Amino acid sequence: MNADLGVEIRGQGSGERGDAGSLDARALRGRFPALGRLINGHRLVYLDNAATTHKPLAVLDAIERHYRLSNANVHRGVHTLAEEATAAYETCRHRVARFVGAADARQVVITRNATEALNLVARGWGARLGPGDEVVTTEMEHHSNLVPWIMLARERGVTLRHVPVTDDGELDLAAFARLLSARTRVVAVTAMSNVLGTINPVPEIAEMARRVGAVVVVDGAQSVPHLPVDFATLGADFLAFSAHKAYGPTGVGFLVGRLERLEEVEPVWGGGEMIREVHLDRATWNGLPHRLEAGTPNIAGAAAFPSALDLFEELGLGPVRVHEQGLVAYALDRLSSLGFLRVHGPLDPARRGGLVSFTDPDIHPHDQAQVLDNLGVAVRAGHHCAQPLMRRLGETATVRASFGVYSDHDDVDALVDGLMAARRYFGS
Ligand SMILES: Cc1ncc(COP(=O)(O)O)c(C=O)c1O
Repeated sequence: MNADLGVEIRGQGSGERGDAGSLDARALRGRFPALGRLINGHRLVYLDNAATTHKPLAVLDAIERHYRLSNANVHRGVHTLAEEATAAYETCRHRVARFVGAADARQVVITRNATEALNLVARGWGARLGPGDEVVTTEMEHHSNLVPWIMLARERGVTLRHVPVTDDGELDLAAFARLLSARTRVVAVTAMSNVLGTINPVPEIAEMARRVGAVVVVDGAQSVPHLPVDFATLGADFLAFSAHKAYGPTGVGFLVGRLERLEEVEPVWGGGEMIREVHLDRATWNGLPHRLEAGTPNIAGAAAFPSALDLFEELGLGPVRVHEQGLVAYALDRLSSLGFLRVHGPLDPARRGGLVSFTDPDIHPHDQAQVLDNLGVAVRAGHHCAQPLMRRLGETATVRASFGVYSDHDDVDALVDGLMAARRYFGS
């Protein structure tokens, strides 16, 4: 049992999250057309998976199939195409519920992305908060789990508190305990840092938060595609994530919630689909989840996402995690042994997901990323939408290499070769 994730990680799984042996990353690459590209004469080594993953042929085919054959609006028509489109859209909801261990498909609200899901909680559930209430987030959050709360604080006079990050790149849980009080109404935390890779002990955090009666909001943008996550045992009230970081299309995300908490979320967007009855001067709302999904959604994207979930089902999240943990261990080892990098985040690969951020004190991250790109290696350089964390680390930017199911040791070797080439190029 991995207590941090609230689930058991098995080498061999069963059911929705799948059976698999070890991952054959090179063979998997063959399913992702973009990974067959040459960049500046080199094989594309794609290490920007935390920003977005590539899409397998099965997902691309599903998008095309939807538009070619079943294109229609959802929930509104009785004709065959409308029924097919609605069935595909609702299948996505059911598959996501099963994927994250939510018992009822009504617990899944389909959004545009994780950011929209988090904003929906902050605005829709946060509408009940006011002066005197406190929201606790952390110093390691992505802006998507900071800015909506800042907006709430501005609008409703709520007080914000932040859990500090230790020098080891972990949340300071003793400080967290001291921040909690009867005033704490929300604890909003990432399950995995997009900069440090740190896997936070969400069940423990949720347990502490619940003792003071706070609602627990989990940003699963980085965790859901890479770690087995089980909503039923996570302890969260809300869980947000995006399809595009999980081999699915852009423009589709999810807010998974406990039904009783979702019932408390005020609609943030009004319009078609979310109503029961409308008069000129008043309206009543539809039931869950539709009252939180106004207007025409990304139907093709939702219709295609189950094809990405098929991949997880085939491989199993346990083996995916083992594969990516092995890669991060190898990357930490190789990057640290270079001797000239500051490598951020926990040293223990078991404490982190499949990404590594680092800085060369002599070369700007953008310059490193440019040299790497010349060699076909795609990494992310910048503040990674985590400016408060950058300040905590004393950096303005880092380079981040992040892995997916198709990454392997050759990719890490290409990264290391590129970093040494950057040193030679800049004469460091
Ligand atoms: C931890 C974390 N949260 C939230 C987001 C936002 O995801 P999206 O842009 O898909 O809404 C990201 C994206 O990088 C992320 O890494």
